[in-house]
Amino acid sequence: MLASSTERAALLALIVALSVGSGAAFAPTSFSVRSSSLATLSATVDPTVVTKKEYQDICGVEFNDSTLADRLARTAYLYPKHVEVIDDFAPLVDRMVDEILLETGEKSWQPQDYLPDLSQSNWLEQTKELREAAAGVPDDLFVVLIGDMVTEEALPTYQTLLNTFEGCDDPIGTTNSAWARWSRGWTSEENRHGDLLNKYLYLSGKTDMRAIEVTIQHLITSGFNPGARKDPYRGFLYTSFQERATKISHGNVGKLAKAHGAVDLQRICAKIAGDEGRHEKAYQAFCTEILKRDPDGLLAEFGDLMRGQIVMPAELMTDGRDPHLYENFSAVAQRLGVYTALDYADIIEHLVNHWKIGELTGLSSEGEKEQNYICRLPDRYRKLAERSMNKKKDEEVVTQSFSWIFNRKA
Ligand SMILES: [Fe+2]
Ligand SMILES: [Fe+2]
Repeated sequence: MLASSTERAALLALIVALSVGSGAAFAPTSFSVRSSSLATLSATVDPTVVTKKEYQDICGVEFNDSTLADRLARTAYLYPKHVEVIDDFAPLVDRMVDEILLETGEKSWQPQDYLPDLSQSNWLEQTKELREAAAGVPDDLFVVLIGDMVTEEALPTYQTLLNTFEGCDDPIGTTNSAWARWSRGWTSEENRHGDLLNKYLYLSGKTDMRAIEVTIQHLITSGFNPGARKDPYRGFLYTSFQERATKISHGNVGKLAKAHGAVDLQRICAKIAGDEGRHEKAYQAFCTEILKRDPDGLLAEFGDLMRGQIVMPAELMTDGRDPHLYENFSAVAQRLGVYTALDYADIIEHLVNHWKIGELTGLSSEGEKEQNYICRLPDRYRKLAERSMNKKKDEEVVTQSFSWIFNRKA
């Protein structure tokens, strides 16, 4: 038993120092630990004054090179071949992280670049300008913007999912593999989206921020299952689709905002759509690499994923009041033409053309069956989309009240 809180704090500092310090000594090369944090923490306790027995008494486990590696390594993958394939083009991913796809450091844009600077003497004028422009944006467009923001704010869910794709995970949080770096870099870019939209909405003064925050918390709590089943193939097929869908949605919200005079909001949406566009290219490039190595494997997963339809990330959103919040939000998005059933068909068509699915040769008979099925999908979806959109045109517009905008109707 420790007598005082000071002693407990000292022991805690010792444990932290020892665990992190020992991590560096025992970590296999692919799991590097940054030396700067080490230096700070090791300064708390001089490791040379601690005996091995004391260390074991406190930490309970003695790690050495191989035991730590064994503990971190998987004994069996569900998809060993898929992991082998994505491992094979990891060097390309490494280059993509650094050079092409992800912006980092000073070069990268930040939410503050697109918002009033509250530290400046003219902060009030800047904020007034934003609010005046926002006042001209109709409620229905705000509802779509809020739904998009809520979706972005559930980023913890998406990073969690990304780390479930076998071979792409980040087992220690600072793993120095191409795929783990991709996962963290992608998340760091996505993090700006919810951040920027959230601050914009807060400053606009048009929305019930508390109701929106409740929705975000519920959505993160509820989670989301894209049907990836830990498979990197399915994961990248899904993200190839989804990044394009978000690019379209943010881009269209921006265009409509501009039409209502909110040029600042248009710039915000265009910037975010630009990120989604780079992400889309990256995920589609990953699938192109998979196709070069295992076309039958990718087509099998593509076909299967499409038979189950693409689940949208915010489908489980709720504000605790409206049991049909997601349906009502997407009905507004559809009505405004921000994201429609036709977009769904267009995205599938884009992917089929981009990956030249119809031109693949040397497939197994199963692969050929999937190829035929997938190539027919865009037309099928377009017909369905046209039919359902025409039906909607003839129907009377039904508006719903949204807690996000103080129960006004949209
Ligand atoms: Fe995003
Ligand atoms: Fe994205």
